[in-house]
Amino acid sequence: MSRYAEITGWGKALPPTVLSNADLELIVETSDDWITSRSGIKERRISHVAASEMAELAGRRAMAAAGIDAGGVDLILNATCTPESIIPASASYVQAMLGATKAGAMDLNANCSGFVYGYVMADSLIRAGAADTVLLIGVERLSWVMDYTDRSTCILFGDGAGAVVLQATSGEAGVLGSVLGVDGTMADILCVPNDGTIEPGSASAVTRIVMEGSDVFRRAVTAMADASETVVRQAGWEVDDIDLLVPHQANQRIIDATARRLKLDPARVMLNIHAYGNTSAATIPIALTEALEAGRVPPRGNLVFAAFGGGLTWAAAAVRFGERVMPRAEIEDDLPASDRSVWELLQPNFDYFGRLERL
Ligand code: ACO
Repeated sequence: MSRYAEITGWGKALPPTVLSNADLELIVETSDDWITSRSGIKERRISHVAASEMAELAGRRAMAAAGIDAGGVDLILNATCTPESIIPASASYVQAMLGATKAGAMDLNANCSGFVYGYVMADSLIRAGAADTVLLIGVERLSWVMDYTDRSTCILFGDGAGAVVLQATSGEAGVLGSVLGVDGTMADILCVPNDGTIEPGSASAVTRIVMEGSDVFRRAVTAMADASETVVRQAGWEVDDIDLLVPHQANQRIIDATARRLKLDPARVMLNIHAYGNTSAATIPIALTEALEAGRVPPRGNLVFAAFGGGLTWAAAAVRFGERVMPRAEIEDDLPASDRSVWELLQPNFDYFGRLERL
């Protein structure tokens, strides 16, 4: 009997504190008009909790939707480029918080493409019989590596988490075509320099995202459209067969240009960038969860996931969704309330970059 991997659960966790375009107007030379017209973003969330807490909640919501408990998870894949520590992997904290005692757990870093990389890996492991149930999480706390004096980057990024449960099934579902790509020679155009072990002990190292925005933009449109076309072809579909494109949410103009190149009706594109900005590996599972909540994923629907990001990585998957598009159960729990204002949450960044300017 053939073995496939079906998405049986989905969930998201967004911190409550909002950083709006109007807020950004107070700290950098920009305007709501500029940010909205150039990126489609109106606001983003800033987390008051560790990334693993967002990951845990998204994971528990996804497990509830799947109708499973943590003891039934074989593997946790935690896609992130903002882990809490290098050792241990953040996935270890998430596994402990969830009480997923029988699961293996690892972080996976392909930047904004991390969720799609993880999805293709999880699907393959299940098909190969190496796992029956995988919890795949995309989580980021990008506010931690943001320079809120740099208007070309700080307007784009936010914090959040999304998760899916994949389970073995005999009904045809899961990945019908996939592309995983990278151009490591261009890694420097989007990176956090001096982070990690490249310059150990460099006390004045600047730890923040730097990006050549317009170069990244051009490459993102080409790579996302090419990869999407390839996976549609691999699946044996025409573009008209796509029920919903769930793209990485980096810039609405990148998404619009990708859809135009594919000749895909904009009504078949999931967009929520206005509310959260770019949450890197978390954008697609958050967008997929919101598409399901809005009834935009039909039973056995044809979906395309497409992403692009630091590395420079890109990835796409043509996905046949399962029969069930309603959660089996939902949980009421939420992240703890925050008693700090957005400015209090951002104070460590201001202190850090203020200090650097005086060095
Ligand atoms: N407000 C006002 N003006 C601004 C701002 C701002 N926030 N930011 C830049 N500008 C100015 C620039 O200084 C420039 O001014 P100049 O012409 O006087 O030099 C002008 O606006 C145009 O700048 P561009 O960078 O050419 O603007 P562009 O239209 O390319 O938009 C943006 C910039 C939004 C950053 C876009 O390039 C983009 O979205 N790039 C891709 C981002 C992305 O996809 N990242 C990948 C994922 S990230 C990851 O993997 C972690």
